Amino acid sequence: MKRVLVTGASSGIGLQLATDYLADGWQVVACGRNKSKLTQALPGEGVEYGVFDINDREAVRMGLSTVAPVDLAILNAGTCEYVDDAHAFDADLFERVVQANLIGTANCVAAVLPRIKTGGRLALVSSAVTFVPLTRAEAYGASKAGVDYLARTLAVDLNSSQVAVSLVRPGFVDTPLTQKNDFPMPGRVSPVQASRIIRSGLARGKHEITFPSAFIVTLKLLSWLPYGWWLSLARRMKGNTYE
Ligand SMILES: NC(=O)c1ccc[n+]([C@@H]2O[C@H](COP(=O)([O-])OP(=O)(O)OC[C@H]3O[C@@H](n4cnc5c(N)ncnc54)[C@H](OP(=O)(O)O)[C@@H]3O)[C@@H](O)[C@H]2O)c1
Repeated sequence: MKRVLVTGASSGIGLQLATDYLADGWQVVACGRNKSKLTQALPGEGVEYGVFDINDREAVRMGLSTVAPVDLAILNAGTCEYVDDAHAFDADLFERVVQANLIGTANCVAAVLPRIKTGGRLALVSSAVTFVPLTRAEAYGASKAGVDYLARTLAVDLNSSQVAVSLVRPGFVDTPLTQKNDFPMPGRVSPVQASRIIRSGLARGKHEITFPSAFIVTLKLLSWLPYGWWLSLARRMKGNTYE
């Protein structure tokens, strides 16, 4: 029986992935920091639980040390906080977000790599935010740009016949993480749609999985603009007239 490990399995995208892999007959190692939230969200047979805060390297190492080998590990746990006022830059907020999304993911990479079967796959969940610099995303975007680089360099440095690497870059998905947003979220998809696209991409061995396609095409076109043009456009969209 195939085995998948998912971090951030107590909510949103991770919960949907874990639920869908279980329904497909996989054994699931569901990881989160709150055991009762995890067991309530994912009760029943076929589930093992890994309980740790990804910020705590030793807890991650201990939590994963006894996990039997998995075919697929999806490092999905993450957080998002936006910068309210860049002039009063909040370095504590920046540290919190980079710590969880980048260092926390690296803690999981170190602990999970020895647990991936030969020929298995490691997937890191980043975000479409990294296509262009978006307003107020100084911390979130920087943390996810780090995840992009981490995944792409791991793909270079790991022997792909031992462990292949996929980078997942979702646009907006309707989860608790985005339900608190107070701005328009073009192309937002449901967790069910997100899970279907991610699972299909991973099954096909895709190096990068981006969605939804119309939103991604728009971001890619914007990313090809000369940087000064993008800056003027982004400032105008934000209502700033710094020039
Ligand atoms: N939703 C989107 O539009 C979107 C778009 C692009 C990328 N993403 C990325 O997708 C991933 C999942 O996001 P989501 O939308 O599903 O958010 P979510 O519903 O808030 O779920 C986040 C998950 O990560 C876990 N988590 C957060 N910090 C943790 C920590 N320090 N240690 C252990 N677990 C921790 C949460 O655990 P608790 O339940 O204990 O809080 C939860 O299970 C994130 O990496 C996010 O950046 C999301």
